[in-house]
Order: sequence, then structure tokens, then C-alpha cells
Amino acid sequence: MPRYFALIPAAGSGSRLGGELPKQYQAVAGQSLLSHALHALCQDTRIERAFVAIAPEDAHWEGVSRHMPLYAALVLRCGGATRAQTVFNALQEMAKHGVLDNDWALVHDAARPCLSAEALARLIDEVGTDVVGGLLAIPVADTLKRGDEYQRATTTENRNGLWQAQTPQMFRVGTLRNALASAPLEDVTDEASAIERAGMRPKLVMGEASNIKITYPADLVLAEAILTRVAGT
Ligand code: CTP
Ligand code: MG
Repeated sequence: MPRYFALIPAAGSGSRLGGELPKQYQAVAGQSLLSHALHALCQDTRIERAFVAIAPEDAHWEGVSRHMPLYAALVLRCGGATRAQTVFNALQEMAKHGVLDNDWALVHDAARPCLSAEALARLIDEVGTDVVGGLLAIPVADTLKRGDEYQRATTTENRNGLWQAQTPQMFRVGTLRNALASAPLEDVTDEASAIERAGMRPKLVMGEASNIKITYPADLVLAEAILTRVAGT
């Protein structure tokens, strides 16, 4: 039976967020973003183990990891220049830890602290029997404008069939590694795009608007509200 492994790429610098610490180590609702992401993934008992991919020169993991649920986490110092490179390196390292090509990898951004147990379970339920794999995503709700160089709207884009990709994104380890190996990694912004380039069609599983990615400072305020609301209900 294929097993389920989580992989958290956490080797970015968080240049758009700014601040003293790399984004994944900044705190919201009393814990680092990375710790929230790890907790969220470990809520599902089907996840065998979580791998955390950090930058080789990362000086913050040791301090933060003391407060993390390390029962199921294994750190890999294999971060690359891009997110895709980090994921590719991590998949190779995971093989050295006994992960097989037929096992599932659930790749989840360290910068998404608000993943719910329900959305995670839905992804595993719906994709666990799929031949290709899939990802959490939500249909685009806003009206989309194409802007020109003067920041004026030229047209309104048809949003039919458009989805916003989230994470986790769930693929067989071997399929994902091969797809990443044959794609120009600088063009790959998520796992699904590498799979699409390889000619496959990842399944879109309904995500949640609350599963936000922290990119700018205002996102931290929103995440704090989401996390404290969930904790308080
Ligand atoms: N990531 C990574 N390796 C990289 C770049 C990003 O593992 N070379 C990770 C980040 O740590 C984050 C996730 O990929 O968990 C999503 O990336 P993003 O939100 O873009 O984070 P950063 O690249 O750190 O932020 P920025 O682009 O603002 O610098
Ligand atoms: Mg980035």
C-alpha cells in the first residue's frame, strides 16, 4: 500500500514579507508559520511522517524545532534557489529515508498556517485513489481585469473554469520527481504545473478561502484572526 508523506518546503527568505526572521520562522498566534503548517499536516493520522526542507545555512531551525511536534518531523538541509528546486532536492533526500516512488508526497507551503483538518482529509480522500494526483484549489470568485502599462483596465477576463491553486499538492513521489526533472525549474511555481507540463491533469479538490498563503504583512493579521477564531470555537 502506498504511504502518505508530507513535505514542507521552508527554504525561502520571505523577501516580500520583510522582517528580522525568514518568513517561515515568523510568529502568528503564538507559533511560527512553519510550526502551524507542521501541526496542520500531522492532524491526519494517515500522514506517516513530515519532511521539512530548509536552507543548508539555516540558523533558526534548532531554536524553533524545540517547540515543534517533532515526533513525526525530519529536517532536510537541502533547500535550493527556487521552491521547485527545494522540492526536487527534498524528493531525492526522501528516497534515502526509505520513501518509495509509489508513495504519495503532500507538498505544503510553510507559509500556509491555516490549513484545516477537513480540507486535508478531503484532499487525501479524493486523490488517494487517483492515478495522477491533485491539489487543493478554489474557484476564482472575483471579476478579473487585464491591466495595461498605465494601470488601466483594458478587458474583463472570463473566469469560467479558473481556479486558484493552494497547497497541499499531492502526487506520487516518482511521478513528481520525474516531472520536475524534465521541467525548467525557474518556470515551475507549483508542483501541479510540472505535472501539467508532463501531459497529465491534476485533480482540483475544493480548498478553503481560509487556507491563505502569507506573502505580505497584512496577511499575518488575517492569519492571526483565522487561527484564533478556529481555536476559540
Ligand atoms: N521556498 C523554498 N525554497 C525557495 C523558495 C521558497 O522552500 N528557494 C518555500 C518558502 O519557504 C515557502 C514556500 O516555498 O514555504 C512558498 O514560497 P513563497 O511564499 O514565495 O516564500 P518565499 O520565497 O520565502 O517569499 P518571497 O517570494 O516573498 O521571497
Ligand atoms: Mg518566493
